[in-house]
Amino acid sequence: MILVTTAGKVGSEAVRLLRERDVPVRVLVRDLAKVTALADAGAEVARGDLDVPASIDDAMAGVSAVVLVSPAVPVQELNVVDSAARAGVGHVVKATSKASSDSPIARRRWQAEIEAGLAATGIPHTLLRSNAYMQNVLALAPAIAKTDSFGSAAGGGRCGLVDARDVAAVAAKIAADPAGHAGQAYWLSGPDPLSNYDVAAVLSTLLARTITYRELTFEENKDAMIAAGVPAPIAEMNAQAFSLTAQGDAEWVTGDVPALLGRPARSFSQFAADYAAAFS
Ligand SMILES: NC(=O)c1ccc[n+]([C@@H]2O[C@H](COP(=O)([O-])OP(=O)(O)OC[C@H]3O[C@@H](n4cnc5c(N)ncnc54)[C@H](OP(=O)(O)O)[C@@H]3O)[C@@H](O)[C@H]2O)c1
Repeated sequence: MILVTTAGKVGSEAVRLLRERDVPVRVLVRDLAKVTALADAGAEVARGDLDVPASIDDAMAGVSAVVLVSPAVPVQELNVVDSAARAGVGHVVKATSKASSDSPIARRRWQAEIEAGLAATGIPHTLLRSNAYMQNVLALAPAIAKTDSFGSAAGGGRCGLVDARDVAAVAAKIAADPAGHAGQAYWLSGPDPLSNYDVAAVLSTLLARTITYRELTFEENKDAMIAAGVPAPIAEMNAQAFSLTAQGDAEWVTGDVPALLGRPARSFSQFAADYAAAFS
């Protein structure tokens, strides 16, 4: 049995892919109503909360591998790690990013703290260090649909955007067959380093109307996200990440997705076509 915490962008797709291959999988969620399709596909659903260790222990029964993916709040993910250690779980696949204990971005320091806690347990594990998800662009879709434009503090910086569905495919594959992946860290990206001018060009072609990209300052970007409903601390971390992208921080692509999946990583054009309805 594989346990997937939680059912966000990566977790829900990992569960779907595991069920497609008939692998027994359980998904831990707060709200059962959000995973009816996964339950219909044969996934076990465990109602739980990452802040409540007993609920995680309940979900951990009989589990051989865990896909650990959540908003990466240290106390929450370390609750999962501790529960996995108590249960003698054989492998953890941890979704992470460019973690670093001295990063200016709190989320990257949190990831470093979680990775250290996971390593300290001695549980065999694999780190998936993903570049920014293409799905982040979906947060801009309402503005794009309304104004034919979007803005960011990323300037003209390029980013090896990866489709979260490819991250999920890698997580599912390793969790189902961890042999050879213990102690590995994979750097997951899409095939192309793209600037937001490139993103605007792809969307313009797809939607057959001109989508314009505007460069924003850090403060403008943070305030725009807060106005769109993003909690202020998260808006701050996102705007910091975009500002680093402007300086080349995300301009990396690797061959890890194709090497692990045996097929090309999805391109941004493919992603945009699949989600076209969101931008219309
Ligand atoms: N986004 C990126 O560009 C990017 C890039 C690289 C790495 N990452 C990493 O990927 C991870 C996030 O993955 P994701 O984007 O797939 O996540 P996501 O879509 O934001 O989903 C997070 C899920 O966590 C659930 N959740 C939140 N608090 C919970 C709690 N206390 N108990 C149980 N469930 C809880 C949410 O459920 P509810 O529906 O109940 O709220 C939601 O389903 C993070 O580690 C992040 O650093 C992200």
